[in-house]
Amino acid sequence: MRAIGCKGGRSLENPDSFVTFEQDTPTPEGRDLLIRIEAISVNPVDFKVRESITESQDPPRILGWDAAGVVEAVGDQVELFQPGARVFYAGDVTRSGSNATHQLVDERIVGQHPKNLGFAEAAALPLTAITAWEALFSRLKIDPEADAGKRILIISGAGGVGSIAIQLAKSVARLEIIATASREESRAWCSSLGADHTIDHFEDMAAQLKQKGIGAPDYILCLSHTDQHFLTMVNLIAPQGMICSIVGNKQKHDLDLLKSKSAGFVWEFMFTRSMYQTPDMIEQHRLLNEIARLVEEGEIKTTLKQLLGPVSVANIRESHRLLEAGHCVGKIVLEGFE
Ligand SMILES: NC(=O)c1ccc[n+]([C@@H]2O[C@H](COP(=O)([O-])OP(=O)(O)OC[C@H]3O[C@@H](n4cnc5c(N)ncnc54)[C@H](OP(=O)(O)O)[C@@H]3O)[C@@H](O)[C@H]2O)c1
Repeated sequence: MRAIGCKGGRSLENPDSFVTFEQDTPTPEGRDLLIRIEAISVNPVDFKVRESITESQDPPRILGWDAAGVVEAVGDQVELFQPGARVFYAGDVTRSGSNATHQLVDERIVGQHPKNLGFAEAAALPLTAITAWEALFSRLKIDPEADAGKRILIISGAGGVGSIAIQLAKSVARLEIIATASREESRAWCSSLGADHTIDHFEDMAAQLKQKGIGAPDYILCLSHTDQHFLTMVNLIAPQGMICSIVGNKQKHDLDLLKSKSAGFVWEFMFTRSMYQTPDMIEQHRLLNEIARLVEEGEIKTTLKQLLGPVSVANIRESHRLLEAGHCVGKIVLEGFE
């Protein structure tokens, strides 16, 4: 198999930060599938892991945790898929990634590819859809029946995760959605996906909600810069409301500030289930299948925004550069292997 690996990646300018190399195609065992990758998507986790890799990394680390492809072979305990099945998945950050022609992935975190999408459109979805689904339904514990009509503030509505979170909050949870976006393009994208209101995350959010006559959100989903937004979230959340963040903090924050409102704060990390091999790992298989069904029924759509070309050192490097700039709208996808 061929792969693009990372060898010491603090600076993207380092010409050796990515290399193309060959290695033996692995044989699947146990519950693993060997997948031939047709398209990949990129995420901020890619450059966060890249920054932690030192120049002595050998062999190069294969990054990338979002792909669509075809099952080529299965391990002896595989129950959910057969060779030839089209699949989409995010994978496991503790294992080798999807910037390659082939990859081993545990079947319990793989979903059936949406029938009405091409590989590129499907590759845009898995990592962000798992994150948004788990945040809304497992962490914030939103019940589509009991909680319909409640209000959610989604901070960073136009990014990869926000683009699918808005759609799920609208079509599955049936919430009133306030999404944040700072530019005309990102505002328009949020509205097109189902946001009822947009406000700017670089301006005073409380003042904007007041000016628009919007009450306190019952839920806040923080998809960017938790440090920057923590106090705003504490002030905005409704009494007995819930905040979920997916972005780690560098500063210390005082949870006591939420006590008088009996409000909660919870983390979502979409690699938790695979990292700790939790007994409910198969929930990611189920939720990806549910995402595929929603796409097939026209309830939600792909978040693919930019098809950058084939998987190559130059395109991987460019995708990291775009993501690090922090103003992506929707998802960047690469299709085929150069
Ligand atoms: N915990 C998990 O499981 C998990 C999973 C996925 C992602 N993440 C993390 O979540 C974050 C978002 O991921 P993503 O894929 O959505 O990223 P992304 O696509 O790169 O997000 C880009 C968006 O961020 C918005 N943004 C930029 N600065 C902001 C700020 N200061 N406050 C609010 N929004 C801001 C931009 O909006 P404007 O251009 O309109 O300013 C842009 O639309 C990353 O840090 C990623 O590592 C965590």
